[in-house]
Order: sequence, then C-alpha cells, then structure tokens
Amino acid sequence: MFKFKKKPKREIDLDNLPQHIAIIMDGNGRWAKKRGLPRSVGHRQGAKTLERVLDYANNIGIKYLTVYAFSTENWKRPQPEVDALMELVCEYLGNYDKLLGGRNVVLKIIGTRAGLSEKVLKLIDEAEEKSRNNTGATLYIALNYGGREEIVHAAKSIAKDVADGNLYADAIDENTLSSYMYTAGVPDPDFIIRPSGELRLSNFLLWQCAYSEFWFSNICWPDFTEDKLEQAIVDFQARNRRYGGV
Ligand code: FPP
Repeated sequence: MFKFKKKPKREIDLDNLPQHIAIIMDGNGRWAKKRGLPRSVGHRQGAKTLERVLDYANNIGIKYLTVYAFSTENWKRPQPEVDALMELVCEYLGNYDKLLGGRNVVLKIIGTRAGLSEKVLKLIDEAEEKSRNNTGATLYIALNYGGREEIVHAAKSIAKDVADGNLYADAIDENTLSSYMYTAGVPDPDFIIRPSGELRLSNFLLWQCAYSEFWFSNICWPDFTEDKLEQAIVDFQARNRRYGGV
C-alpha cells in the first residue's frame, strides 16, 4: 500500500481511482521563458515532473498513465527544439534501467513510427522489450502521436483487412475501431489532465476521450506536483459520471 511521504492534505479514495489518467504535459516553454531559460530546459524539467507524477500514480495504484510527449504537429517547431526533445526522449529510453526500469513500469510508445529516426526506433524497441515483464503501472508515451493520424491509420488497416477478406464490413462496430487504435486493449482514459491554462485537446486521444473527465490548471507542467495530481484525483472522485444516462 502506498505510504505518503507527507501527510496528504485531502482524503483520496483509493478504491475509486481513475484507471487511466492521460496528461498533456503543457507549458514547458512558458515555464522556461519566464526564467530566461531556453525552451529545452523547460522540457527537461517537464521530464523530471513526469518521473515524480509517475511515482505517485504508480504507488497509489493507477494502472495506466498516458503522456503526450510529441505530437505529429510538433515537427513544425524550430529544428533545435525538435532535436532537443528527441535527444531527451533518447536519454530516457536509453537510460531505461536507471530512469524508468527501477519504477517497475511497463513502457509503451504510441504514435506513428513514420518520421522517427532509426536511433529513436531502436531505443523504443529495446526499452519496450526490457519493460515487458514489469508488474507496475503501464506508462504510455505518446510520441509522434496525433489523434487524427491514429484514426486514419486505423481506417486504412480496417480497409485492408476487409479487402483481404479478414474482416466483414458489416461486423465493424465501436469495439472493432478501438481494437485498431494504438491503444488497443487499454481502457479509455477516464481522466484527462491539461496544465498550463490551455483549454483544448490538441489532437490527443480523440477516439478514446468520448467519456473522459477533464481537469485543467494554470500551472505549467514543470511546476506540477504530486499534490496537484492528488487534488485532481479528489476532484475526479466528486464528478457525477452519467455516460449519457440520467
Ligand atoms: C508542450 O509544452 C510540451 C511538449 C511539446 C513536450 C513535452 C515533453 C516532455 C515534458 C518531455 C518528456 C520526456 C520524456 C522522456 C517522455 P510547450 O513546449 O508547448 O510549452 P508552451 O506551450 O509553454 O510553449
């Protein structure tokens, strides 16, 4: 059972936790700018926040954590920033044993492999393989991920399977679509968190968020704390989820 280092400020119900939390790790650039630092320092600080949040989530028993690290649209950023982000990802995947392995998490990368370098792809495969038999939370890192790209990818795969005679068009339903997403087999996120004051989804988990609860905060991701996550979870537990019913 999770032991809080500090006494929690709030009562959280460990029997009613969100199963799957998804986070848009936003505000790294603004955090850095406010301090007169390069944006890449903000991303690096954001990766540290991810480690802390992952520990907290893993320890209290959150089963799935998905984080948005790089979108299919982020290639539009200045090349030095793209390079710094890819370098940071490589550092984390390459130092898997030290940075993530000790946490007993299963690591999965979601998104399209098209456009990622051979080096990144190799590190992804190695880190996923190393983490395969871990028993803690599953950390999904959305890398080169776009919700629309994912839906297009699923549609193409379905069309191919229908054309090849492996799938009946009439049998396609919502579960079929889900099973063709990068998140196949993972419950939809019940809770989506976006810090930094922006109130949009930015092409994140478009198919999966149909009934997600949303939580926003003005804090930039590098300043996000375990305490904030705890507050978010308490708020989640007070929500009345009706799924279209009464
Ligand atoms: C959005 O903030 C953040 C990103 C595009 C990158 C997030 C990546 C990390 C936190 C690093 C993750 C590392 C690993 C190992 C998974 P922004 O840059 O758009 O901030 P801004 O809106 O203030 O400019």
